[in-house]
Amino acid sequence: MSKSLSLKAPAKINFYLQITGNRPDGYHDLVMIMQSVDLSDRVDLRQTASEAIVVHCDHPQVPQDRTNLADRAAHLMQQRFPSVGGIEIKIHKNIPIAAGLAGGSTDAAAVLVGIDRLWQLGLTQPELRELAAQLGSDIPFCISGGTALATGRGEVITPVADLADVAIVICKPKDIAISTAWAYQTFRAAGLLAQGKQLQPSHDRSSEMLAVLEAAKDKHNQALIEVATQLGQLLYNDLERVVLPAHPAIVQLKQQLQAQAPLGVLMSGSGATVFAIARDLEHARQIAKSVVAGLPNIEAWVTKTIGNGIQDFLD
Ligand code: C5P
Repeated sequence: MSKSLSLKAPAKINFYLQITGNRPDGYHDLVMIMQSVDLSDRVDLRQTASEAIVVHCDHPQVPQDRTNLADRAAHLMQQRFPSVGGIEIKIHKNIPIAAGLAGGSTDAAAVLVGIDRLWQLGLTQPELRELAAQLGSDIPFCISGGTALATGRGEVITPVADLADVAIVICKPKDIAISTAWAYQTFRAAGLLAQGKQLQPSHDRSSEMLAVLEAAKDKHNQALIEVATQLGQLLYNDLERVVLPAHPAIVQLKQQLQAQAPLGVLMSGSGATVFAIARDLEHARQIAKSVVAGLPNIEAWVTKTIGNGIQDFLD
Protein backbone atom coordinates (compact mmCIF):
# COMPACT_ATOMS: atom_id res chain seq x y z
CA MET A 1 0.00 0.00 0.00
CA SER A 2 1.41 3.43 -0.88
CA LYS A 3 2.04 5.68 2.08
CA SER A 4 2.59 9.41 2.42
CA LEU A 5 3.52 12.00 5.00
CA SER A 6 3.91 15.77 5.31
CA LEU A 7 6.81 17.35 7.16
CA LYS A 8 7.54 20.84 8.38
CA ALA A 9 11.09 21.92 7.50
CA PRO A 10 12.22 25.04 9.39
CA ALA A 11 14.75 27.67 8.32
CA LYS A 12 17.84 28.45 10.39
CA ILE A 13 19.72 31.58 11.33
CA ASN A 14 23.29 31.83 12.61
CA PHE A 15 23.78 33.59 15.94
CA TYR A 16 27.51 33.05 15.46
CA LEU A 17 29.73 32.13 12.50
CA GLN A 18 33.50 32.23 12.85
CA ILE A 19 35.90 30.90 10.21
CA THR A 20 38.78 29.26 12.04
CA GLY A 21 40.76 27.62 9.23
CA ASN A 22 41.21 27.03 5.49
CA ARG A 23 40.88 23.31 4.80
CA PRO A 24 42.82 21.47 2.09
CA ASP A 25 39.51 20.21 0.62
CA GLY A 26 38.55 23.82 -0.22
CA TYR A 27 36.07 24.09 2.64
CA HIS A 28 36.59 26.08 5.85
CA ASP A 29 36.67 25.06 9.47
CA LEU A 30 33.91 26.84 11.31
CA VAL A 31 32.52 27.52 14.75
CA MET A 32 28.81 28.25 14.32
CA ILE A 33 25.90 28.59 16.72
CA MET A 34 22.79 27.78 14.74
CA GLN A 35 19.15 28.31 15.58
CA SER A 36 15.92 27.05 13.98
CA VAL A 37 13.15 29.57 13.42
CA ASP A 38 9.43 29.16 12.88
CA LEU A 39 9.55 29.98 9.15
CA SER A 40 9.11 26.66 7.40
CA ASP A 41 8.65 24.90 4.10
CA ARG A 42 6.19 22.03 3.84
CA VAL A 43 7.58 18.86 2.28
CA ASP A 44 5.08 16.19 1.18
CA LEU A 45 6.43 12.71 0.43
CA ARG A 46 4.50 9.91 -1.24
CA GLN A 47 5.61 6.38 -2.07
CA THR A 48 4.90 5.53 -5.73
CA ALA A 49 4.67 2.25 -7.64
CA SER A 50 7.60 3.05 -9.96
CA GLU A 51 11.30 3.41 -9.05
CA ALA A 52 11.29 7.06 -10.11
CA ILE A 53 12.11 10.07 -7.94
CA VAL A 54 9.95 13.05 -8.89
CA VAL A 55 10.37 16.48 -7.29
CA HIS A 56 7.88 19.35 -7.65
CA CYS A 57 8.32 22.77 -6.10
CA ASP A 58 5.88 25.67 -6.22
CA HIS A 59 8.73 28.24 -6.39
CA PRO A 60 9.74 28.95 -10.01
CA GLN A 61 13.44 29.50 -9.22
CA VAL A 62 13.96 26.20 -7.41
CA PRO A 63 15.50 23.63 -9.80
CA GLN A 64 13.49 20.43 -10.22
CA ASP A 65 16.40 18.31 -11.51
CA ARG A 66 19.42 16.56 -9.96
CA THR A 67 20.85 19.90 -8.78
CA ASN A 68 17.97 20.12 -6.30
CA LEU A 69 19.22 19.04 -2.86
CA ALA A 70 15.94 17.26 -2.06
CA ASP A 71 16.29 15.22 -5.25
CA ARG A 72 19.90 14.38 -4.37
CA ALA A 73 18.83 13.33 -0.87
CA ALA A 74 16.25 10.91 -2.31
CA HIS A 75 18.80 9.42 -4.74
CA LEU A 76 21.30 8.96 -1.92
CA MET A 77 18.69 7.06 0.12
CA GLN A 78 17.82 4.84 -2.86
CA GLN A 79 21.52 4.06 -3.43
CA ARG A 80 22.17 3.24 0.21
CA PHE A 81 18.97 1.32 0.94
CA PRO A 82 17.78 -1.03 -1.81
CA SER A 83 14.31 -1.30 -0.26
CA VAL A 84 13.63 2.40 -1.00
CA GLY A 85 11.45 2.61 -4.12
CA GLY A 86 9.80 5.39 -6.08
CA ILE A 87 8.89 8.63 -4.39
CA GLU A 88 7.08 11.83 -5.23
CA ILE A 89 8.27 14.92 -3.34
CA LYS A 90 6.28 18.15 -3.27
CA ILE A 91 7.95 21.21 -1.75
CA HIS A 92 5.78 24.18 -0.72
CA LYS A 93 8.26 27.03 -0.34
CA ASN A 94 7.90 29.70 2.31
CA ILE A 95 11.60 30.14 3.11
CA PRO A 96 13.27 32.64 0.77
CA ILE A 97 15.83 30.97 -1.50
CA ALA A 98 19.59 31.74 -1.72
CA ALA A 99 19.14 33.77 1.44
CA GLY A 100 21.48 32.26 4.07
CA LEU A 101 18.52 30.55 5.77
CA ALA A 102 19.31 26.93 4.73
CA GLY A 103 16.02 26.63 2.81
CA GLY A 104 17.34 23.99 0.37
CA SER A 105 19.20 22.20 3.16
CA THR A 106 16.14 21.88 5.38
CA ASP A 107 14.07 20.45 2.49
CA ALA A 108 16.81 17.83 1.91
CA ALA A 109 16.84 17.05 5.64
CA ALA A 110 13.06 16.49 5.47
CA VAL A 111 13.52 14.06 2.56
CA LEU A 112 16.07 12.01 4.55
CA VAL A 113 13.83 11.94 7.64
CA GLY A 114 10.71 11.23 5.56
CA ILE A 115 12.22 8.34 3.60
CA ASP A 116 13.57 6.83 6.84
CA ARG A 117 10.04 6.91 8.20
CA LEU A 118 8.13 5.83 5.08
CA TRP A 119 10.35 2.78 4.50
CA GLN A 120 10.83 2.13 8.25
CA LEU A 121 14.61 2.07 7.95
CA GLY A 122 15.07 2.75 11.67
CA LEU A 123 18.04 5.13 11.21
CA THR A 124 19.44 6.86 14.29
CA GLN A 125 20.06 10.64 14.41
CA PRO A 126 23.85 10.15 13.99
CA GLU A 127 23.20 7.89 10.95
CA LEU A 128 20.87 10.48 9.42
CA ARG A 129 23.44 13.20 10.08
CA GLU A 130 26.18 11.14 8.43
CA LEU A 131 24.05 10.84 5.26
CA ALA A 132 23.13 14.53 5.48
CA ALA A 133 26.82 15.57 5.64
CA GLN A 134 27.41 13.95 2.24
CA LEU A 135 24.90 16.34 0.70
CA GLY A 136 25.79 19.68 2.32
CA SER A 137 27.36 21.27 5.38
CA ASP A 138 24.13 22.72 6.87
CA ILE A 139 21.95 19.62 6.41
CA PRO A 140 23.06 17.68 9.54
CA PHE A 141 21.95 20.61 11.71
CA CYS A 142 18.59 20.87 9.94
CA ILE A 143 17.61 17.31 10.93
CA SER A 144 17.39 17.91 14.67
CA GLY A 145 17.44 21.74 14.60
CA GLY A 146 16.73 23.75 17.74
CA THR A 147 19.89 25.43 19.05
CA ALA A 148 23.24 23.79 18.31
CA LEU A 149 26.97 24.30 18.05
CA ALA A 150 28.22 23.28 14.61
CA THR A 151 31.94 22.72 14.03
CA GLY A 152 34.13 21.03 11.41
CA ARG A 153 32.80 22.32 8.09
CA GLY A 154 29.45 22.72 9.86
CA GLU A 155 28.50 19.06 10.00
CA VAL A 156 29.69 18.21 13.52
CA ILE A 157 26.68 18.98 15.69
CA THR A 158 26.69 19.41 19.46
CA PRO A 159 23.25 20.21 20.87
CA VAL A 160 22.93 23.26 23.12
CA ALA A 161 20.02 23.99 25.48
CA ASP A 162 17.25 25.00 23.06
CA LEU A 163 16.25 28.63 23.07
CA ALA A 164 12.60 28.86 22.05
CA ASP A 165 10.21 31.82 21.77
CA VAL A 166 12.69 34.64 21.14
CA ALA A 167 11.09 37.08 18.67
CA ILE A 168 13.02 37.46 15.42
CA VAL A 169 12.60 39.72 12.38
CA ILE A 170 14.00 38.33 9.16
CA CYS A 171 14.67 40.79 6.33
CA LYS A 172 15.83 40.05 2.82
CA PRO A 173 16.64 42.46 0.00
CA LYS A 174 14.49 41.15 -2.87
CA ASP A 175 17.10 41.62 -5.60
CA ILE A 176 20.22 40.19 -3.91
CA ALA A 177 21.03 36.47 -4.00
CA ILE A 178 24.45 35.53 -2.65
CA SER A 179 26.29 32.32 -3.50
CA THR A 180 27.69 30.67 -0.38
CA ALA A 181 30.68 29.39 -2.37
CA TRP A 182 31.42 32.95 -3.54
CA ALA A 183 31.35 34.29 0.04
CA TYR A 184 33.77 31.66 1.38
CA GLN A 185 36.08 31.88 -1.64
CA THR A 186 36.20 35.67 -1.36
CA PHE A 187 37.04 35.37 2.34
CA ARG A 188 39.88 32.97 1.48
CA ALA A 189 41.13 35.03 -1.48
CA ALA A 190 41.25 38.15 0.69
CA GLY A 191 43.65 36.25 2.98
CA LEU A 192 41.68 37.19 6.05
CA LEU A 193 43.00 34.13 7.89
CA ALA A 194 46.46 33.85 6.30
CA GLN A 195 47.34 37.45 7.11
CA GLY A 196 46.66 36.85 10.77
CA LYS A 197 43.62 39.09 10.63
CA GLN A 198 41.36 36.51 12.21
CA LEU A 199 39.73 37.27 15.51
CA GLN A 200 42.14 37.05 18.40
CA PRO A 201 41.16 34.39 20.95
CA SER A 202 40.15 37.20 23.33
CA HIS A 203 37.51 38.19 20.78
CA ASP A 204 36.18 34.69 20.31
CA ARG A 205 32.72 35.12 21.74
CA SER A 206 31.36 31.66 20.98
CA SER A 207 32.19 30.28 24.45
CA GLU A 208 30.52 33.27 26.05
CA MET A 209 27.45 32.79 23.88
CA LEU A 210 27.29 29.08 24.72
CA ALA A 211 27.47 29.96 28.43
CA VAL A 212 24.55 32.41 28.01
CA LEU A 213 22.49 29.74 26.22
CA GLU A 214 23.36 27.07 28.79
CA ALA A 215 22.38 29.37 31.68
CA ALA A 216 19.08 30.18 29.90
CA LYS A 217 17.69 26.69 30.36
CA ASP A 218 17.33 27.20 34.12
CA LYS A 219 15.55 30.53 33.74
CA HIS A 220 11.83 31.13 33.63
CA ASN A 221 10.17 32.72 30.65
CA GLN A 222 10.20 36.15 32.30
CA ALA A 223 13.99 36.07 32.07
CA LEU A 224 13.91 35.40 28.32
CA ILE A 225 14.41 39.08 27.60
CA GLU A 226 17.62 39.04 29.69
CA VAL A 227 18.93 36.07 27.74
CA ALA A 228 17.97 37.64 24.41
CA THR A 229 19.67 40.90 25.43
CA GLN A 230 22.93 39.12 26.28
CA LEU A 231 22.72 37.05 23.13
CA GLY A 232 22.13 40.17 21.01
CA GLN A 233 25.40 41.68 22.21
CA LEU A 234 27.42 38.60 21.23
CA LEU A 235 26.14 38.06 17.66
CA TYR A 236 28.99 37.61 15.18
CA ASN A 237 29.42 36.54 11.53
CA ASP A 238 32.85 36.50 9.80
CA LEU A 239 31.19 36.44 6.36
CA GLU A 240 29.95 40.00 6.94
CA ARG A 241 33.59 41.01 6.38
CA VAL A 242 33.35 40.09 2.68
CA VAL A 243 29.63 40.37 1.94
CA LEU A 244 28.99 43.84 3.41
CA PRO A 245 31.71 45.66 1.39
CA ALA A 246 30.27 44.10 -1.81
CA HIS A 247 26.62 44.92 -1.00
CA PRO A 248 25.94 48.43 0.34
CA ALA A 249 22.20 47.60 0.36
CA ILE A 250 22.83 45.05 3.13
CA VAL A 251 24.78 47.65 5.15
CA GLN A 252 21.84 50.02 4.73
CA LEU A 253 19.43 47.29 5.84
CA LYS A 254 21.52 46.63 8.96
CA GLN A 255 21.53 50.36 9.76
CA GLN A 256 17.78 50.63 9.28
CA LEU A 257 17.23 47.67 11.61
CA GLN A 258 19.65 49.03 14.20
CA ALA A 259 17.74 52.34 14.22
CA GLN A 260 14.72 50.45 15.63
CA ALA A 261 16.67 49.58 18.80
CA PRO A 262 16.51 45.80 18.58
CA LEU A 263 18.53 43.59 20.94
CA GLY A 264 20.91 42.62 18.14
CA VAL A 265 21.29 42.57 14.35
CA LEU A 266 23.32 40.17 12.18
CA MET A 267 23.57 38.85 8.65
CA SER A 268 22.61 35.15 8.57
CA GLY A 269 25.09 32.71 6.97
CA SER A 270 26.38 34.10 3.68
CA GLY A 271 23.42 36.54 3.44
CA ALA A 272 21.69 38.40 1.99
CA THR A 273 19.25 37.93 4.88
CA VAL A 274 19.73 40.06 7.96
CA PHE A 275 17.88 39.23 11.17
CA ALA A 276 17.13 41.26 14.27
CA ILE A 277 16.36 39.98 17.76
CA ALA A 278 13.33 41.84 19.13
CA ARG A 279 12.06 42.25 22.69
CA ASP A 280 8.81 40.48 21.84
CA LEU A 281 6.56 39.76 18.85
CA GLU A 282 4.91 43.20 19.00
CA HIS A 283 8.32 44.88 18.87
CA ALA A 284 9.28 42.53 16.00
CA ARG A 285 6.17 43.58 14.05
CA GLN A 286 7.03 47.28 14.56
CA ILE A 287 10.59 46.71 13.37
CA ALA A 288 9.42 44.81 10.28
CA LYS A 289 6.89 47.52 9.43
CA SER A 290 9.35 50.38 9.70
CA VAL A 291 12.04 48.59 7.67
CA VAL A 292 9.62 47.77 4.85
CA ALA A 293 8.30 51.35 4.91
CA GLY A 294 11.80 52.89 5.07
CA LEU A 295 13.61 50.90 2.39
CA PRO A 296 12.58 49.78 -1.09
CA ASN A 297 12.79 46.11 -2.09
CA ILE A 298 12.89 44.56 1.36
CA GLU A 299 10.78 41.57 2.33
CA ALA A 300 10.31 40.98 6.06
CA TRP A 301 9.01 38.11 8.18
CA VAL A 302 8.19 38.12 11.88
CA THR A 303 9.00 34.81 13.49
CA LYS A 304 10.45 33.23 16.64
CA THR A 305 13.11 30.75 17.62
CA ILE A 306 11.98 27.11 17.99
CA GLY A 307 13.46 24.08 19.72
CA ASN A 308 13.10 21.56 16.90
CA GLY A 309 14.14 20.62 13.38
CA ILE A 310 12.11 18.43 11.01
CA GLN A 311 8.66 17.61 12.42
CA ASP A 312 5.27 16.37 11.27
CA PHE A 313 3.28 19.03 9.48
CA LEU A 314 0.11 19.64 11.45
CA ASP A 315 -2.57 21.68 9.71
O1 C5P B 1 28.42 22.28 1.97
P1 C5P B 1 27.67 23.16 1.03
O2 C5P B 1 27.54 22.53 -0.34
O3 C5P B 1 26.39 23.67 1.55
O4 C5P B 1 28.58 24.44 0.84
C1 C5P B 1 28.40 25.35 -0.22
C2 C5P B 1 29.72 26.03 -0.51
O5 C5P B 1 30.10 26.84 0.60
C3 C5P B 1 30.88 25.06 -0.70
O6 C5P B 1 31.01 24.69 -2.04
C4 C5P B 1 32.06 25.86 -0.24
O7 C5P B 1 32.50 26.67 -1.27
C5 C5P B 1 31.49 26.77 0.84
N1 C5P B 1 31.74 26.27 2.21
C6 C5P B 1 33.01 26.37 2.75
N2 C5P B 1 33.24 25.92 4.02
C7 C5P B 1 32.23 25.38 4.75
C8 C5P B 1 30.93 25.27 4.21
C9 C5P B 1 30.72 25.73 2.94
O8 C5P B 1 33.93 26.86 2.09
N3 C5P B 1 32.50 24.96 5.97
